[in-house]
Amino acid sequence: MLDAPYPYRTMVRRFRWARVVAVLLALAALTACAAPDANRGDLLTPDADPSGAPTAPEGSPPVPESLPVPAALDRDLTDPPERRQAREALVSTAIDPAVEDQRVVDAMLAVPRHAFVPTDVIDEAYQDFPLPIGHGQTISQPSLVGRMTELLELEPTDRVLEVGTGSGYQAAILAELSDEVFSLEIVPQLAGTARGVLDGLGYADVRIDRRDGYLGWPEHAPYDAIVVTAAPDHLPQPLVEQLRPDGGRMVVPIGPVGDVQTLWLVTREDGEARMQRILDVRFVPLVRDEGWSTQAATAVAGPIERRGTRTAASR
Ligand SMILES: C[S@@+](CC[C@H](N)C(=O)[O-])C[C@H]1O[C@@H](n2cnc3c(N)ncnc32)[C@H](O)[C@@H]1O
Repeated sequence: MLDAPYPYRTMVRRFRWARVVAVLLALAALTACAAPDANRGDLLTPDADPSGAPTAPEGSPPVPESLPVPAALDRDLTDPPERRQAREALVSTAIDPAVEDQRVVDAMLAVPRHAFVPTDVIDEAYQDFPLPIGHGQTISQPSLVGRMTELLELEPTDRVLEVGTGSGYQAAILAELSDEVFSLEIVPQLAGTARGVLDGLGYADVRIDRRDGYLGWPEHAPYDAIVVTAAPDHLPQPLVEQLRPDGGRMVVPIGPVGDVQTLWLVTREDGEARMQRILDVRFVPLVRDEGWSTQAATAVAGPIERRGTRTAASR
């Protein structure tokens, strides 16, 4: 019997410990369940996306695009006097004769084209021809950029869409003339490099996205003007629909891949689109999202955009 009370006390102690442990476990479980609910309440508004993604409050600034901006840009963003002189020489020999609108001429004097090309071709930046920018693509011929920009008849308050950001050069020219510039590029690396250059030169307001520009950027439509800098084989209907119905202007090269295309001025009045032939040109093709990687690679070997000759039929 003397031995009996000891196991009994041990049992009672063990029972008490078990109760303490059970209470502690219950408290821990309650805390674990409550914490996520508290976090969800902090992050989500009542009508939040059911996927659980937090929604931005109304009026907050637009979400910045995430483009692959290279850490080290192969571009020279400085503008020393010798580059400015070369630019002035290009403007007087190639832009002045081709472009009547002085605002466009001034924009082309202001934007340092050499900053948009890879450094191995920088010394050719102020010649009137297209230059390679990588990924089988080109920066357009300056006089053609001037001519296409002039056809848009931009006003400072206009909202402009460019399809085919490429180097970002045309987008910078547009930004010299209008407050709201949107530009779409299908090749992510080009979009990223253009983003870096435009930011570095003070054109951070230009909005760029990596998208199939055939479909336009409907979220910001209607546009007062649209410029397409790669050639589709027909007029993209989504772009026509995103053009302002009363007075919108679009400049677009249309024609077969790797051959001469026609530059058209499309104007919209009372919702109806009218087309006017302007010039014969040669542009890289407008490729669709499903095929850009292979088609862009093919374009490396093919002829590149150059200024076409004005024909009797192209007026
Ligand atoms: C002649 S380059 C444009 C030059 C450019 N505007 C500049 O100032 O450097 C044509 C560009 O259109 C792009 N492109 C082709 N198809 C496209 C598409 N469906 N959507 C957006 N960009 C496209 C090409 O990748 C290329 O960068």
